[in-house]
Amino acid sequence: MPLPIVSEFLSETPLPQLKPLWIGSVLVDPPVLQAPMAGFTNFAFRQIVREFGGAGLQATEMVNARGFVWMDQHEAEHPDRLWGVQDEARPLAVQIWDNDPETLAQVGARLAHEYRVSVVDINFGCPVKQVTQKAHSGSYLLRFPDRMGRIIERVVEACRPTPVTAKIRLGCTRDRIVANEVAQVVESAGASALTVHGRTAQDYFAGQADWDRIAAIKPFLKKIPLIGNGDLDSPARVLDVFRRYDVDGVMIARASLGRPWLFRQVQAALAGKPIPPDPTLAEQRDCMLRHYELVCARFGEQKGTVLMRKFACNYAVGMPGARSFRAQVAQVADRRHFLEVVASHFPR
Ligand SMILES: Cc1cc2nc3c(=O)[nH]c(=O)nc-3n(C[C@H](O)[C@H](O)[C@H](O)COP(=O)(O)O)c2cc1C
Repeated sequence: MPLPIVSEFLSETPLPQLKPLWIGSVLVDPPVLQAPMAGFTNFAFRQIVREFGGAGLQATEMVNARGFVWMDQHEAEHPDRLWGVQDEARPLAVQIWDNDPETLAQVGARLAHEYRVSVVDINFGCPVKQVTQKAHSGSYLLRFPDRMGRIIERVVEACRPTPVTAKIRLGCTRDRIVANEVAQVVESAGASALTVHGRTAQDYFAGQADWDRIAAIKPFLKKIPLIGNGDLDSPARVLDVFRRYDVDGVMIARASLGRPWLFRQVQAALAGKPIPPDPTLAEQRDCMLRHYELVCARFGEQKGTVLMRKFACNYAVGMPGARSFRAQVAQVADRRHFLEVVASHFPR
């Protein structure tokens, strides 16, 4: 069922009673997770989120296990998708994908023991053709729960004591929802938490996340936490979900892309505190420029500027003049031009 539009007057109904969310030995406080998003949740984005605060656990983009091994064999620098992972603050989850238990276990072991990440998450939800049809991974594996079980068992064994989690969709197609059955497989194989995006792979991002179906999984899990994901875009929606559905945690993806301060707002709402207002446009500009500097420090000015285009577009969502900003920022190729476009659209 779609979430109803809820009042922003949050203080009128009692706060949901939240239990501490443990993923293995990792306390996720608050029980609000920053989702993995390929192409977006790199170190720069994670650092911006971290500086605002409020995300109980942050995740990298998905990392292809085979790519990781291949890069290593060629003694190349580790892949860009592991940018920051070695040194940044914990807790941090790294998400990996593939369909080969041994490759995943090998990479999981390195992430757990060498990189010392807090959580190794396995992607069983990606609906993109390159991952499903070409690599028989991501949501493709939802058709093969036995294979999922073997993968999780091997990765858990290799990563121990680091917790291993799984992220799924409800199923591949709307006419065959497999989440309840898959949840049992995930738990029996030794995973420490299950995250569910309340759509099928067929849905891609269409329609609305089905929170009734997410919550229906709960009785199928005996001991591990259930983390719900889909369409959470305000503190009010998060409160509403915790009030109405039996989930142990929630995960936020798209809404945080242009509003990395959303987690801080959600955290305040869950604690019954006044919700910090959105930063002013001038503060949002400063946040975007800080993001830009982090990206350029890694990729250099030219590549960094091109990479920043998409992040800058996210920051402009809902802003007056957003359309003109997006059109202009899509053309920027150097720092001077980027700063000019920012200065002409964001107030000082
Ligand atoms: C651009 C983009 C990239 C994504 N990349 C990943 C990914 O690497 N791994 C993953 O498990 N999910 C990925 N997702 C899915 C999100 O983690 C999340 O499940 C989905 O967007 C629903 O949550 P939301 O409604 O809060 O956006 C991606 C989503 C988007 C929009």
